[in-house]
Parts: sequence; structure tokens; C-alpha cells
Amino acid sequence: MSSQVTVSAPAKINLCLGVGPVRPDGFHPLATVYQAVGLFDDVRVRPAAADSITVYGDGIDVSEVPTDETNLVLRAARLLADHHGLDEHVEAHIHKRIPVAGGLAGGSTDGAAALVACDALWGTRTPREELLALAAELGSDVPFCVMGGTAIGSGRGELVTPVMTRGSYWWVILPAEGGLSTPAVYGLFDRLTEESGADDPEISALLLSALRAGDSEGLGDTLSNDLQPAAFTLRPDLAELLEIGLDAGAFGAIVTGSGPTTVYLCESRAHALDVNRAFDHPGLVAEAPVHGARVIEHKR
Ligand code: C5P
Repeated sequence: MSSQVTVSAPAKINLCLGVGPVRPDGFHPLATVYQAVGLFDDVRVRPAAADSITVYGDGIDVSEVPTDETNLVLRAARLLADHHGLDEHVEAHIHKRIPVAGGLAGGSTDGAAALVACDALWGTRTPREELLALAAELGSDVPFCVMGGTAIGSGRGELVTPVMTRGSYWWVILPAEGGLSTPAVYGLFDRLTEESGADDPEISALLLSALRAGDSEGLGDTLSNDLQPAAFTLRPDLAELLEIGLDAGAFGAIVTGSGPTTVYLCESRAHALDVNRAFDHPGLVAEAPVHGARVIEHKR
């Protein structure tokens, strides 16, 4: 039987997302706190003569996921092989549960999973710092998806530092139909802040102390997202959803990343199930923080 490795990798949400004025390279400086949530894609890789990829959508629409060499999974495999000077190829399969183009880093986490999976398959034992640097080449969120947990993201989001947290946080994750393009949301952010100018982003000390204390209710008051006005402009229905969640008792509610997924912070699983019932189209209930990309099966 041929060898194969399967890696589980989480969705992320942004507890805060401070965005500064666009840089000369087209990216925006960020000050964010990422949290990995208990909603996972699985990526499986096997040795093959040529690269290929298939995608299965577990209750979600995957028609927009590329199935050629532009998929982050195959780009990750190529990047790692080139890094080690290997002439290896993979047959890859993604089992997708994370909504596509939702602001949950679904594509990024598949790239993170592929790095970890190929590293195990080829026995390359890439040092952590090297793996994070390769992850940064794939995308701004990819290093966090390798790391998991809760972490501050700076630079364009690719520089990650773990954050001390206590306890568990319970979230309702409400995907919205249709998805939003990340570059389109950042582009609108630029236009909306053209006159007033975007401030240099900072992370609130209150948010970090709520995380240290395991204080969900306090954390709820500190959630923020500078991309939210742009996401609301493109999707006016989102503001209404946040109101519904807050009226139902959530401690805090925000658009995550570039949207359109909205997330609702709750006290417990029971509280989250209760808040989730307030929506016409209920979302998912997930616990956080969870692990980053990790091997769950290795057949040799
Ligand atoms: O890094 P990643 O490939 O995920 O970024 C996708 C797009 O999101 C970029 O091409 C850019 O338009 C936007 N982006 C940005 N500033 C960031 C991160 C992403 O403008 N810090």
C-alpha cells in the first residue's frame, strides 16, 4: 500500500483586525489577534508521478475552489519540494468543511495543512521557523494556520506571536451566502479611508487582558474589525445579523476577516446553541482556541 498523510487544519477568526494605510507592495499593515476555531478541513497527500488535486465539500459549496496547480495545497507542495531540492509530486485531496471565501482562512489553512503533510510524507523535518517562513510566502494568514491557538499577527498578518489565554471560548460562526473577495474588501477599505486616512493599527490592551483572564464577557466588548464598514457596504444584510445575535444575548458580534462570515461570542456551548437558534439560517457552534495544522494519520 502506498504511503499517505492526513492533516487536520482549523478555520481562523480575528478577534480584532486593525488595518493601516496600504503599503507600497499593495498589502496593508495589520494588528490582529487570530484565534483558531474548532472547524477543520482535512488534507490528504500521497506520492504520485504528477501533482493533482480533488476537493470534496462536506455540506458546503466548493465550486470556486481551484483544482489545478494554483490551489494553495499544490503550491505548498511545490514550495516545500523546491525548498529541499526534491523532485517529489503528490496526489492531494481536500475534505472541506470551512466555507469558501468566508473570511475564515479556509484556503490558507489548506496550504498550511499541505506544508505539514508533505513535510511528514517526505520526512524532511523542516525546522518550525523555516516552515513559518515558507507559510508566509503562500499567504498572510498561512503562518497562523500552521501555529493555531491564539496569536497576535503583525506585518501583513504573517508575523505571528502566541498570546496567553485562559479557558475556552464558544462561538457561533454564521457563514453568509456568496462569499466576499478579500482584495475587493481591502480595495473598498482604501476608498472609504481615502479622505480621513487610516490610522496605524494597534491591539487593545483590554482585549489581551480579557484573554489572559478567560473573561468571555469582557472579551465580547473589545471585539473589533476595521474592515467591517467595507464589508457592510458590500453586504448590508450583515449589520442586521450582528444585531440579531446581540439581541439574542451574545457577548459580542463581528464580521470576521474580510467577511462575509459573522461570529458571535458566547458563554458556553449551551449559550451558543441558544444564540444560534435566533437566526433564520443557523450557523455552526465551535469551541476555541484549537490546535494548528497537525498530522492525524500517517500510513507508511
Ligand atoms: O496574503 P493573501 O494572499 O492571503 O492576501 C490576499 C489579498 O488580500 C492580497 O492580494 C491583498 O489584496 C489583500 N491583503 C491586504 N493586506 C493584508 C493581507 C491581505 O491588502 N495584510
